[in-house]
This record gives sequence, structure tokens and C-alpha cells, in this order.
Amino acid sequence: MTGVLLAEPVSGEHAPVLRNAAIDSLAIRADGCYVDATFGRGGHAGEILGRLGEEGKLIGIDRDPEAAAAAAVLFDADPRAQFVRARFSELGQHVPPASADGILFDLGVSSPQLDEARRGFSFLRDGPLDMRMDPDSGASAAEFLARTDEREIAGVIARLGEERHAKRIARALVAARESGPIDTTGRLAGIVAAAVPGREPGRHPATRTFQALRIHVNDELGEIERALPQAVDALKPRGRLVVISFHSLEDRIVKRFMRSGSREDPAWAGLPEVPAAARPRLKLVGRATFADEAEVARNPRARSAVMRVAERLPE
Ligand SMILES: C[S@@+](CC[C@H](N)C(=O)[O-])C[C@H]1O[C@@H](n2cnc3c(N)ncnc32)[C@H](O)[C@@H]1O
Repeated sequence: MTGVLLAEPVSGEHAPVLRNAAIDSLAIRADGCYVDATFGRGGHAGEILGRLGEEGKLIGIDRDPEAAAAAAVLFDADPRAQFVRARFSELGQHVPPASADGILFDLGVSSPQLDEARRGFSFLRDGPLDMRMDPDSGASAAEFLARTDEREIAGVIARLGEERHAKRIARALVAARESGPIDTTGRLAGIVAAAVPGREPGRHPATRTFQALRIHVNDELGEIERALPQAVDALKPRGRLVVISFHSLEDRIVKRFMRSGSREDPAWAGLPEVPAAARPRLKLVGRATFADEAEVARNPRARSAVMRVAERLPE
């Protein structure tokens, strides 16, 4: 199916990024077992399911209740498919060791999550300041801003938003909450816009702050750190791990994990008998892949996407 044009997403849909490249990289066998650890609205999952025969199996995972609803429709009691509403850092509880032929992570948030004002992810749409992918667990962005001290807020915005005006923004947020809770996306965007001097061309001044709060509220980087080793355990020998990241903080974790997993423990370098635990568990497959111009033109979200692929080595 390589080269098939992606349809333009209609509002409320999610256009899967690097769909063909990701599906090709999974090297799908009709009778294989695959895991889509970030089901979203099922764009990639539908494609995987379409390539499976009667013996094939697909496990979809997502922490978002709306992804669960989408899975109920897409899977439509298909005996080959199963959806688990969970964090992907719990993958090991749902996918037995050495059972999967391929595992896909398409990180970040889906377009419908961003587009729905009531999910509170977007500075473009006013809504309650929530930002949780799973609204049933953990603290919302509004709760974080209400009870966290200025220093910690500044640290989160600096580290996860790579925002150079983080201290100034945190000061403004702490001052503003004295006059009432920061509990809508519109109020947050307004406070940040007023606190930031000048403007980055083509970027809303609150972009980096929203990114930082979203990553923090959902512990996105911790989730990736915990999930990747479990994904390798869940792969069969020669099974494929395919990860699509959307910003450098995510990609750095993925790149380091795959690189270190594909190298022998340096403590054993040059020695004749290397124990299994010190041998590489992964082999890198190809180089980082980016969306081409045509895909970026159709789907601006693809602009920052980078896909990395590794294969589990036999023990
Ligand atoms: C970019 S979207 C995936 C879109 C999907 N590939 C598609 O084609 O529809 C990312 C999805 O991963 C989910 N997600 C992100 N982090 C997660 C985590 N730690 N555990 C479970 N789901 C997560 C989000 O809720 C979102 O639905």
C-alpha cells in the first residue's frame, strides 16, 4: 500500500502520520500479533487490521475514554481485535512476554483531543483547563497551576516547553491566580501572552507553555521511559518496535533507548564470553524517517514527526 494518498481529515478525525511508512516498518504477517499502544481514533490500527488474516491478532491500547469508544466502533466485535483502556506504561500487564510481532507507538495527542474545547488542550479554543488524556485520573492542568509554587511551575515550563521566558510566565501565573483560578484555556493563554515580550513569528506566545503543561500533566516522558523496555520484553525475536515522536524531548528518549539497546554492554567489549544480559537486544532498522513535503502539506501535524524502528534480536 506504499504510496497510497492519505485522505484529508475531516473535523473530529485524526489523520495518521507516516501511516504507510509505519505499517511497512511493522512488516505485518497475516497471522501475526500486533500491538497499537496509542490507538487514538484507530487510523493505524485499522490499517493493521486490514492486513491481518483470520489467524492474526491486534491489541489496541489507549488511556483516553474516547479512544475506547472509537475502538468499539472500529473493532465491531471482530474476534481478532481487543482494546485495553490503559496507560502504555502498563503494556507488560496486557501483552505477554515474547508474544508480539510488532508494536507501534504514535506518541502525543490526537487531533480530536486537541480540537475538542472541553478537553482543554488548545489555546485556540476556550474550554476548561484540563489537558488530561485520561480525565478519570490524576490532576488537571488547572489543579496543577492552583497548587504549585512559582519555582516549580517555572521549571516545568522551561524544561518541557523549552520556553526561555518561563520565569516571567510563572511569576505572572502566580500573581494572576490571586485574583481568581486559572481554570480555562482562554485565561491561561491570555496571561501567558501578556507576560511574554515580543512574538515568535508564526507561533502563539502560549504554544510552549501549553506543550509543557500537557507533557507534565500526562507524565508523557515518564510514560515513554517506562513503556519502551516493556515493549521489547513483549516482542518475539525479530518483532518490530516502531515509534513516531513529535518533539525532540520524546525523540531523544526513543533514540537513546534504541541505540543503547543495540549496543553490547561496554564493560564486556572484546571479551570472548558475553553473558545474555550484556548482549544487545535490539537491531536498528534503517535511519530516522520524516514525513515528506506532500504529507506535511496535507497534514501540518506531520511536520515535526520522526519515526524510528528497531527489531528484537533472538536471545
Ligand atoms: C497521536 S495519537 C494516536 C493516533 C492513532 N495512531 C491514530 O491513527 O488514530 C496518540 C494517542 O495516544 C494516546 N496516549 C498518549 N500517551 C498515552 C499513554 N501513556 N498511555 C496510553 N495512551 C496514550 C492518546 O490518548 C492518543 O489517543
